[in-house]
Amino acid sequence: MRNETFYKYYTTPSIIKTGGIFMKILEVIGSPKNNGNTYKTVKMVENRIKELDSDMEFETIQLATSNLKTCNGCYVCLSRGENYCPLKDDRELLESKLKSADAIIFGTPVYTYNVSWIMKNFLDRFAY
Ligand SMILES: Cc1cc2nc3c(=O)[nH]c(=O)nc-3n(C[C@H](O)[C@H](O)[C@H](O)COP(=O)(O)O)c2cc1C
Repeated sequence: MRNETFYKYYTTPSIIKTGGIFMKILEVIGSPKNNGNTYKTVKMVENRIKELDSDMEFETIQLATSNLKTCNGCYVCLSRGENYCPLKDDRELLESKLKSADAIIFGTPVYTYNVSWIMKNFLDRFAY
């Protein structure tokens, strides 16, 4: 028997609608350009999900305007812990948003057969 925890963590939007469970969805837009194609595409996904369940709450982070410095590869976050990261920016704020979300949509443009640099930096900054 699937319980509430199952639906909270493992359901797709269509099942969530059936279950009537409220979820917070975080959108991380990894384009170096604000409101570009990646943003528009993720918003299309958001609108489709809202059609399926209007109880969904969305928050959007556009990395282009986030205060997240570039990882300098010092390894301190991995060896001593993230609290020792020498970069002073909004990493902690972003981490709290990541942790409090029930689901995360990562959106990135393809730049030279890969994710954008700004999305890769975002992932590197949370390597710990
Ligand atoms: C530097 C650069 C490299 C790109 N490389 C690729 C690629 O390898 N493959 C591809 O299909 N599109 C590539 N594109 C096209 C972008 O993925 C496409 O225009 C995308 O919609 C841009 O999204 P944005 O408006 O959110 O930045 C590239 C665009 C740029 C600026």
